[in-house]
Parts: sequence; structure tokens; C-alpha cells
Amino acid sequence: MPCIVRAPTVEELPALSALCFRSKAVWGYDSDFMEACRRELTIEPCDLRSSSIAVAEENGKIVGVAQIKVIGSEADLLKLFVEPTTLRGGVGRTLFVWATDQATSRGADRLVIEADPDAAPFYRRMGAEDCGLAPSASIPGRMLPKLVKALRST
Ligand SMILES: CC(C)(COP(=O)(O)OP(=O)(O)OC[C@H]1O[C@@H](n2cnc3c(N)ncnc32)[C@H](O)[C@@H]1OP(=O)(O)O)[C@@H](O)C(=O)NCCC(=O)NCCS
Repeated sequence: MPCIVRAPTVEELPALSALCFRSKAVWGYDSDFMEACRRELTIEPCDLRSSSIAVAEENGKIVGVAQIKVIGSEADLLKLFVEPTTLRGGVGRTLFVWATDQATSRGADRLVIEADPDAAPFYRRMGAEDCGLAPSASIPGRMLPKLVKALRST
């Protein structure tokens, strides 16, 4: 069954936030760390207006979610989370391609990623290049790998 990429409905947002939380937890963080990240892992109805969000669906089940925000020529990858039972099955790549296509069509020339350290090798595999570190929005003092993917011009 092919993976379908589509926009989510507002009713699906609580389930998507739960997916993000489950997905982030695959790296083995403790419960205090995860609680500190909960707000950043939550998708609110207003995010449907202020950003672009897509879900990946397989066999009628949502297996991943991605969110980007474009400001001028820069797109930020705000979320990319795959259901833990579906890791390494190509869903991350499918949603990353959606993110780069969406960013390009909205006029961006680069996609900037502040990555979980364990996810950084995936982004390098997708062609992103390291460009320093960025402070975590959830954990004071924690620095995250920052990567950038150059986008083709349309
Ligand atoms: C990072 C993540 C989105 C990757 O999704 P995925 O569906 O497992 O990735 P895919 O199966 O599409 O992998 C695409 C390629 O990247 C490679 N890859 C995937 N995850 C990797 C990792 N952690 N380290 C190194 N390579 C990785 C795959 O082997 C595959 O390589 P190939 O081109 O040789 O086939 C997924 O691991 C995830 O959701 N992690 C938990 C949440 C998280 O940290 N998200 C990122 C927040 S910044």
C-alpha cells in the first residue's frame, strides 16, 4: 500500500501531538526531559494557519507528520516525526521530500533544521549540511545540531 501524504484535519491534531511525543521518546529520553519537550511537540489548531503541515498515511493509519514554516527565502522544519513502529520504512524520506517541495513552492531557497542529535544522520542522508548549533527551545542550555538543505530553484 503506497504512503499517502495529505493535510491533517483539526480533529486529528491531538493524535498527531501524541505521535510526536511517542516518536521523540524513541531516543530513550527520561520522563522529565520528555515533559519539558511536550509543549514543543504539541500541534495547535492555530498552527494549521501559521504553518504547513502534512501527515503520511499507510493503510488508513497516520504514520508520520511534518511541519514547516516559510519566512521569506528561509523555511524552517518545525517537526518531522515518524511512528516508532514504522521507523526505517521510508516514511521519514517521504515527509522530508514533502517538506522540501512545499518549501520550494512557497519561495524558499533553503530548509533549516534544528535536529535532535540522533536524527542528524538522517538529515545528512537527505542531503542537508551541518551549519553549527542552535539552542533547544525546550531544554535550557542544550544545544542542537543545525543543518541546512539547499533547495532547487523553480
Ligand atoms: C529521523 C526520522 C524522522 C527518520 O525517519 P525514518 O522513516 O526512520 O527514515 P527513512 O526510513 O525514510 O530513512 C531514509 C534514509 O535515512 C537513513 N536513516 C534513517 N534514520 C537514520 C538515523 N537515525 N541515522 C542514520 N541514518 C538514518 C535510512 O537508513 C535511509 O537510508 P537509505 O537512503 O540508505 O535507504 C525518524 O527516525 C524519527 O521520527 N525519529 C524520532 C523523532 C525525531 O527525532 N525526529 C526528528 C526531529 S528533529
